[in-house]
Amino acid sequence: MPKSVVAGNWKMNMTISQSVELMSRMKAGLDSVDKVEKIICPPFTSLSRILDIIGGTSINLGAQNMHYEERGAYTGEIAPDMIAEICTHVIIGHSERRQYFYENDGDVNRKVQVALQAGLIPILCVGENLSQRKSGIAQSVVEGQLISGLLDVADMSKIYVAYEPIWAIGTGVSASVQDAGEMMGIIRATLQSILGGDASSSVPLLYGGSVNANNISDYAQNDNIDGVLVGGASLDPDNFVSIARQMADI
Ligand code: PGA
Repeated sequence: MPKSVVAGNWKMNMTISQSVELMSRMKAGLDSVDKVEKIICPPFTSLSRILDIIGGTSINLGAQNMHYEERGAYTGEIAPDMIAEICTHVIIGHSERRQYFYENDGDVNRKVQVALQAGLIPILCVGENLSQRKSGIAQSVVEGQLISGLLDVADMSKIYVAYEPIWAIGTGVSASVQDAGEMMGIIRATLQSILGGDASSSVPLLYGGSVNANNISDYAQNDNIDGVLVGGASLDPDNFVSIARQMADI
């Protein structure tokens, strides 16, 4: 059985002082939730301050992105070892990275590989856009992203996969539980064909896209969904703690 996971992606929100305030407000509530892995992914500038706050708790720290090169002349980029020094997880291939920063499947694959080498757990994001869904190619898009993202990845035991349909991100229009669950089933089957049964059955599959405290219980009850990657609602302490609690109660 994969573990249950609730991850909060703060995206490009929160200055350092705002991050400190937000984390301080949700720390105790989040820490008190058992049976679910809790991960917070703040902006780079806030990572080390957040680590100070969550030290000694059950809350894990993740980055929202990283570069695939080890070091060197890549102005503005952050290397895997820099992340691994303070984080346990890293989001890779988020649709906003693919869309606005032109990350392609090859970049995503390199990042997954070097994240693993650095000892990080990559949260590999996949998902189709609205026109792909409307034209009936959502499944092949997602399968393609998955297969190329995981190319030549020998050890999958440390990878998480997040299915985030682009049309559901930040729009308030979440995917129906049925659609999300169906795609997660396809993702699980694709993982099985890449990796074989045992290795793939422990990979946590997260749904992301307009998840909040009001709709989480529906997703949590779906057998194909092991966790959630939450954007907007992770900026609201009560909402995010409630999401984690409801995930744990299922
Ligand atoms: P959202 O974002 O919850 O605001 O839709 C999800 C994500 O992009 O991870």
